[in-house]
Amino acid sequence: IMKNEPLYSGKAKSIYKIDDEKVLIDFRDDITAGNGEMHDVKSGKGYLNALISSKLFEVLEQQGAPTHFIEYIKPNQMIAKNVEIIPIEVIVRNIATGSLCRRFPFEDGTVLENPIVQFDYKNDDYGDPMLNDDIALALKIATKEELKQLKQLGLKVNEILYKYFDEIGITLVDFKIEIGKTTDGKLVIADEVSPDTMRLWDKETKEAMDKDVYRKSMGDVVGKYEIVAKKMGCL
Ligand code: C5P
Repeated sequence: IMKNEPLYSGKAKSIYKIDDEKVLIDFRDDITAGNGEMHDVKSGKGYLNALISSKLFEVLEQQGAPTHFIEYIKPNQMIAKNVEIIPIEVIVRNIATGSLCRRFPFEDGTVLENPIVQFDYKNDDYGDPMLNDDIALALKIATKEELKQLKQLGLKVNEILYKYFDEIGITLVDFKIEIGKTTDGKLVIADEVSPDTMRLWDKETKEAMDKDVYRKSMGDVVGKYEIVAKKMGCL
């Protein structure tokens, strides 16, 4: 459905307007990394991310975390609330890895005593730099109250999803969420929650089952996403 012009087309998803309240999100097979330096098309990837995201949004909703999710449309689309995305990537980390280890002297794989919540400015031209509250306020991209809510939402998602994945043999290492404002002014978890936006390690072998498989050219990325979907019981 929906082959008119997208409202917005990102690196891996296109958004189409349904009406003032609703949008259709089309998960494409594109996969990118390094701010567009790597780009490939992997058949079945859009399907798996739409499927996994839909299931995780349902899990979040059931446990009291508000999301933009309305309905999954087979195979690779989702109907969601029309929101205005706050240009802040809310990153939550349980284990130190990735950019945290490139920028700070953490040993890769260290279990953090407390989850770290990090805000990055969602702006490709500036390379998504890390924010602090004063910079976010000065840029007028969020209010003090919204920053507090962003942090709370990040921690709540972490609590729910850490437990959810732990029970199916997967460690939630870290993730990024985006928060949107609905037409009635509520903050909800938006965008996607998928192996593109989370690091997921097999609990036993610590093998990556997420986009790092692609970033580091470690093999069949779609095959890994499929294993995640199977463990989640959606395949
Ligand atoms: O690269 P970094 O270690 O900062 O990533 C932390 C987490 O946020 C990872 O799960 C990564 O997949 C996710 N992320 C993302 N989109 C970005 C940056 C990071 O989904 N633009």
